[in-house]
Amino acid sequence: MECHGTYAKVEEDENNEPVYDKTQIIFGIDCERCHGPAADHVAFHKEHPEEKNPKNIIIIKQLTRQQRLDGCALCHSGFRQAIQQRFSFTIGDSLDAYSMAGYSSDSISTLDVHGNQYGLLMSSKCFKMSNQLDCSSLH
Ligand code: HEC
Ligand code: HEC
Repeated sequence: MECHGTYAKVEEDENNEPVYDKTQIIFGIDCERCHGPAADHVAFHKEHPEEKNPKNIIIIKQLTRQQRLDGCALCHSGFRQAIQQRFSFTIGDSLDAYSMAGYSSDSISTLDVHGNQYGLLMSSKCFKMSNQLDCSSLH
């Protein structure tokens, strides 16, 4: 759910398993998944068309590299075990505080669409020799 959706209202049942509210789901990955809730951003800029500096929105270029990497690793570092409630992570947060990686960082045996692309990138020579390179450098 968390990797194929933008938002879902989630609560936990008595076994701490997630329960989703079917009437409050945004399916698929849209802009707000990575840039955060944007209603206030739209409202502000409609009212102030002369303002060219973005307000009330996550500006990804201003984040640290680790924050940017964590934003992609949310869905591209293999199956992760949740520590906190699903959909509570937003870009800018530290991913390890929300979920734990399921297997060793550079396991190539599990490389498929659900594999650990983040771990493989981190293990690569290019990554280790750069302090700038992130997922967007290539994609
Ligand atoms: C999977 C995550 C993701 C999604 C979904 C996404 N973006 Fe982005 N967006 C990024 C990243 C990462 C950057 C920074 C790229 C870079 O390194 O310059 C970015 C940059 C931008 C920027 C430039 C300003 C900035 O913050 O650097 C704009 C504007 C933008 N995105 C708009 C959108 C819109 C509109 C949508 C939906 C149609 C969208 N994005 C969907 C990840 C995403
Ligand atoms: C909320 C979950 C989520 C986040 C965050 C996310 N992705 Fe994805 N990404 C997906 C899913 C799901 C697919 C597969 C879509 C499909 O195959 O229909 C995908 C596909 C991709 C693909 C294509 C892979 C292929 O095999 O064709 C690339 C490249 C990619 N993502 C890069 C990124 C980058 C870079 C970021 C961070 C800026 C990012 N993604 C963040 C969920 C996410």
